[in-house]
Amino acid sequence: AKNSLFLLPGDGIGPEIMAEVETIIAFLNRKGLTDFSLDRGLVGGSAYDAHGVAISEADMAKALAADAVLFGAVGGPKWDGVPYDCRPEAGLLRLRKDLGLFANLRPAICYPALADASSLKRDVVEGLDILIVRELTGGVYFGEPKEIVTLENGEKRAVDTQVYTTHEIERIARVAFDLAKARNGRVSSAEKRNVMKSGVLWNQVVTKIGREEYADVKLDHILADNCAMQLVRYPKQFDVILTDNLFGDVLSDIGAMLTGSLGMLPSASLGAPDAATGKRKALYEPVHGSAPDIAGTGAANPIAMIASFGMALRYSFGLIDLAGKLDEAIARVLGKGLRTKDIAQKGEATVDTRAMGAAILAEFE
Ligand code: NAI
Ligand code: MG
Repeated sequence: AKNSLFLLPGDGIGPEIMAEVETIIAFLNRKGLTDFSLDRGLVGGSAYDAHGVAISEADMAKALAADAVLFGAVGGPKWDGVPYDCRPEAGLLRLRKDLGLFANLRPAICYPALADASSLKRDVVEGLDILIVRELTGGVYFGEPKEIVTLENGEKRAVDTQVYTTHEIERIARVAFDLAKARNGRVSSAEKRNVMKSGVLWNQVVTKIGREEYADVKLDHILADNCAMQLVRYPKQFDVILTDNLFGDVLSDIGAMLTGSLGMLPSASLGAPDAATGKRKALYEPVHGSAPDIAGTGAANPIAMIASFGMALRYSFGLIDLAGKLDEAIARVLGKGLRTKDIAQKGEATVDTRAMGAAILAEFE
């Protein structure tokens, strides 16, 4: 059977950067290196314009049936006034929920050619290659009760609840350990066991999974606030960082800024392995949004989207060599000085979206 990819380009620059990935896929198929079958759908504002919803049921069914979903970005001022349930982000939230995407993978990779664009000194980030694994469907963002109540004295009281079950911690821990095995064999688990019960359980469950199932992976525990500090002080000490939804939100944004522009950052979100096939549901998307300020101008950097496709090659299809070659092609193009506006010194672009995509493909060949 063919490997199926479902493309949801979305809004703004989404279709522009997805087009560069489609060119690469067409090349890979033509060369016989892959046998991807492609289907395309609408999500976000573009789905709302066509169907009056943020994603149609037909496209949801295709996303559920596909081996992997490639997602561009959604949103823009055009849809600011649409009903809450139909807002562009609702399409992404629905996908995450129905595909059961509980593991969010955010690599922080520093390409040598861009080390000077980091917020940190070159020697601190040059050669950096870490992976932050964030739990995405539990914790304080979703725990109940979640409310603002008015007390008898008229004061208000806001409540959010941090909840994690053993099962939720086990499954995200296994994702992190599996990834570490395929990398440098180290997991750093970040929580706040000193002040949070959920941190105590997190620590216990991760320790148990590590000892019983991954004796070959080195595990250490770090308090989440210290982890934030260490990420800025000496990030190369880490390999895989495993953490919950809230801390992962913050730590992955720190990781992002270690390596430069939003236009460079890919991500993956994975679900549970299928009982029959062992394959995980998966969605791959750049970290950035739809960038309406530059949509249609050719200024969009396609690298985050192309690198997200690289993550799909690696994690959904086991095409590790091909994924590595794609990453090398990106590094070489940057090494040659090609720059879209977002990563150019003084904002002087040397290439537009299509020329950047074409140059990466040419290096890849
Ligand atoms: P944004 O990430 O779209 O843009 C922030 C800044 O970075 C802008 O100046 C933009 O031009 C630049 N930028 C982003 N991606 C770039 C790329 N590939 N190449 C060059 N420059 C790039 O975030 P913003 O402006 O806060 O949000 C714009 C829209 O995107 C909003 O409607 C927001 O809701 C939506 N959004 C969607 C996300 C998603 O689809 N997952 C994530 C974040 C925001
Ligand atoms: Mg965030």
